[in-house]
Amino acid sequence: MQTVTLAGQEVPAIGMGSWHLGVGRRSGQEEIAALQAGLDAGLKLIDTAEMYGDGTSETLIGQAIRRRRDAVFLVSKVYPFHAGGKALEQACNASLARLGVEYLDLYLLHWPGSVPLEETLAGFERLQSAGKIRAWGISNFDTDEMETVLALKGGEQCATNQVLYHPASRGIEYDLLPACRRHHMPVMAYAPLGSGNRLLKHPLLTEIGDACGVSAATVALAWAIRRQGEVIAIPESGDVKHTLANAAACRLTLDEQMLAQIDRAFPAPARKMPLDIL
Ligand SMILES: NC(=O)c1ccc[n+]([C@@H]2O[C@H](COP(=O)([O-])OP(=O)(O)OC[C@H]3O[C@@H](n4cnc5c(N)ncnc54)[C@H](OP(=O)(O)O)[C@@H]3O)[C@@H](O)[C@H]2O)c1
Repeated sequence: MQTVTLAGQEVPAIGMGSWHLGVGRRSGQEEIAALQAGLDAGLKLIDTAEMYGDGTSETLIGQAIRRRRDAVFLVSKVYPFHAGGKALEQACNASLARLGVEYLDLYLLHWPGSVPLEETLAGFERLQSAGKIRAWGISNFDTDEMETVLALKGGEQCATNQVLYHPASRGIEYDLLPACRRHHMPVMAYAPLGSGNRLLKHPLLTEIGDACGVSAATVALAWAIRRQGEVIAIPESGDVKHTLANAAACRLTLDEQMLAQIDRAFPAPARKMPLDIL
């Protein structure tokens, strides 16, 4: 099984996203069943944010993980405009209350903002000392911005950078992924299914999936996590079958020929690309 060591814990290289969970797209029961099916299948990491559904995603996850907190690696994110002083502590407390837990395994700054990074890091350290978060990281930071964080006092404690990554958006392979490799920091890949749009209909992913007896989604995820220990992908699904197909990517190895075919269909970047964001 592909795994990643994240903030000192070994977790499967597939996690579960939640941007559109708890917002009424499906019944809460269906979405809770999907998250629980993922945990039953061995997945561990659940990613959320105070932003998602204005907190309703965190509330739904709280219901899904009640009585099984220890089996979960829980990640939430703070808005940049809450990322300092009292506002940071309040935002974290509110996330903990909605999730019904005493601590987060990882707390991310959702995107770069105007609060000085030194202030955010100091706040994260206070939350760690108070036992409210185990580790902290960043999201949507391009390479130069990430290097700025890592160079700050205490910046080497940054556990991950959560960024967009899927076969049709490979810009991070040019410089961000190599930089993370140098810093021994795994990347967390969001929207790894291209948000479920055209990518999953791509004939090559379908063809490789057919050859492996899996869906195009499983192929896209196995591709994202193909290098052991470097990337953890966090697909979102409110559907049990889809969640199980996503979990199966941890055990699918694409052979050299398949990887070369994917490279031809979705070429790797030959120059610096601005960070893709959603
Ligand atoms: N840090 C950030 O700024 C940021 C930005 C975007 C996303 N994220 C995180 O990353 C997570 C994933 O990103 P995302 O939700 O934008 O996109 P995604 O995971 O690439 O795609 C989700 C879509 O794919 C569908 N899907 C999932 N598994 C499938 C499968 N096996 N077969 C077919 N369709 C499948 C889902 O529908 P069903 O529900 O029907 O399965 C949903 O419509 C988010 O939930 C969030 O936690 C973070």
